[in-house]
Amino acid sequence: MKRSTRRLIDDHDLILRAIEAISVEAKNTTDSGNFNESFWIDSIDFIKNYADGIHHNKEENHLFEMYSQRGIGKEFGPVAVMLNEHIIGRVCVNNMESALQNGKTDVQKLVSSAREYCELLIQHITKENQILFPLGETVISDSDEILLNTLFDDAELELGGNQTILHYQNLVISLEERAGILEVVK
Ligand SMILES: [Fe+2]
Ligand SMILES: [Fe+2]
Repeated sequence: MKRSTRRLIDDHDLILRAIEAISVEAKNTTDSGNFNESFWIDSIDFIKNYADGIHHNKEENHLFEMYSQRGIGKEFGPVAVMLNEHIIGRVCVNNMESALQNGKTDVQKLVSSAREYCELLIQHITKENQILFPLGETVISDSDEILLNTLFDDAELELGGNQTILHYQNLVISLEERAGILEVVK
């Protein structure tokens, strides 16, 4: 059994790869003026349904709830900061989405909101990996770990389980290819 935070750190690794692709595409868009609408639609899909829908769901509904029961409250301190950053991230992606809508894309708003999201998430993930999760390890018992793993499994299953996760892993590879990070293998 993987530790629950190991599972979340694995999610972070995939999210960071998507963020790298989005950052490169944002720069390409600014430098060349070329705008690849499908790249941005897929990026927003990944952020909303994987980074927020699957990953933040496990943190907010299960890990942070467990922390709260074990003395790391969510009203103030590191968990409160993380929850607030999840909210700011949602504002960024909503701004990206609204920049794409109404038939006429506001590329400048799209790119600046994407950059804001990427900077936020890089810092957020660093804080979780290096500060919050190690702190959490000091209060979570082995039986808590078993429960968290079950709750994470159920949360993932509700959203399509391994099939959905594989879909988003492949979507990140596609974002990397389209951003020019990966050579397309044919
Ligand atoms: Fe988080
Ligand atoms: Fe996270």
